[in-house]
Amino acid sequence: MRICVLGSGYVGLVTGACLANMGNHVICTDKDAVKIGKLTAGDVPFYEPGLQEIIKFNLKNGRLSFTGDLKKAIELSDIIFVAVGTPSKKDGAAQIAHVVSAAKDIAVAIKKGYKIIVNKSTVPVGMGDIVTKILKKNGISRDKFSVVSNPEFLSEGTAVSDFMSPDRIVIGASDNRAFNTITELYRPLNAHIIFTDIKTAETIKYVSNSFLATKVSFINEIANICEQIGVDVTTVASAVGLDRRIGRKFLNAGVGYGGSCLPKDVLALIDVSQKAGYVPRLLKAVDEINGKQIDLFLEKIKKSFPKPSGKKIAVMGVSFKPGTDDTRSAPSVRLIKKLLSLGFSVQVFDPAVKNSPVRGAVVCKDIYSALKGCDAAAFVTEWPQFKQLNFELVKKTMKKPVIFDGRNIFDPKIMKESGFKYFGVGR
Ligand code: UGA
Repeated sequence: MRICVLGSGYVGLVTGACLANMGNHVICTDKDAVKIGKLTAGDVPFYEPGLQEIIKFNLKNGRLSFTGDLKKAIELSDIIFVAVGTPSKKDGAAQIAHVVSAAKDIAVAIKKGYKIIVNKSTVPVGMGDIVTKILKKNGISRDKFSVVSNPEFLSEGTAVSDFMSPDRIVIGASDNRAFNTITELYRPLNAHIIFTDIKTAETIKYVSNSFLATKVSFINEIANICEQIGVDVTTVASAVGLDRRIGRKFLNAGVGYGGSCLPKDVLALIDVSQKAGYVPRLLKAVDEINGKQIDLFLEKIKKSFPKPSGKKIAVMGVSFKPGTDDTRSAPSVRLIKKLLSLGFSVQVFDPAVKNSPVRGAVVCKDIYSALKGCDAAAFVTEWPQFKQLNFELVKKTMKKPVIFDGRNIFDPKIMKESGFKYFGVGR
């Protein structure tokens, strides 16, 4: 099929590259000319396992191309994917300006033939109707286009395999022609397809992310209780998670969820709900617990170091989770800012993040240089390489053997036996 993707950010690039890899002709567009130049040379602006390889492969075989000329890309395509950003506004509502602008660009560019506009951006419920109205207002007759909502469920770090082997594909459409074409597009993936109306598909996306966030805040609340009553939350989570109705995934207690999706989508669903006249108390608590989790972690550090001046802390892991270099809404960023404002010196290490997202923190090139001379180390992202630490060497490298484990990476018993003062979350 002939496809174009508006927006070559994270979602747009993974979608475009994977669709090209499945044999389609895909043009990815972006308003950022520098980005388009780099992508044309096969240079991916962020770290995502496997993505660079499939982009290079499909650039070479001619199925994938990049352009800043949106109009031409739309003219040449039968299916237009919209994958632009919808960041949070100050009040938590999702910003729809880029989606509106994409709809206007499409309206200007549609000349002949019939096009299917597929929305991949995470949007407030009802956005499909707004896109339809924009096109109609711009003189495009109803038989010339269909609007589809096809939310993405990609996780950073595993996005390519998530796309190629999805748990489900949701297609929200108001007509059979669009539904049949998009079903055909995804047929090679042999996935479970759910057909809904557009509003339901938009809701499914928010609810999926909000449920994942709820699981994380739930286990963090339990961790805070466990800490008070002297029980290890990791054992509790493992046992509870064996119940197939509950499941073990997303029950890892820690310093809270970050990233560009979970925090934003919980706030957006709260906003959708409140605008509809319902106060979502559970979702509000999910967000509140998440915000507090890093503060509780910081309290433990403050308690151990009541006089921070002259004390040096290593922050281990900066990305919001392992497998990515993304630091958006990462708990580490808040922690580093607070540590610096309290007067600690901060050395950071992350296998993927090479520049500190906070001014004043010193970025180190490897684990042991970050730990060197530190009074304590705070582990904030559970990168697999942290699990392989040589504790004898760590002890020799650090000034004091004190570890704050914000992701429960280490075994408290082993840490104690190895001579460390150890603080986990909920244990
Ligand atoms: C999330 C969803 O998992 C994807 O399905 C969705 O497509 C994506 O948002 C999106 O809307 O684009 P992602 O933001 O990549 O994906 O990250 P997650 O794997 O969901 O992790 C989010 C945060 O939760 C991370 O900071 C992680 O450390 C934290 N987390 C996760 C925990 O604290 N505990 C857990 O048990 C699991």
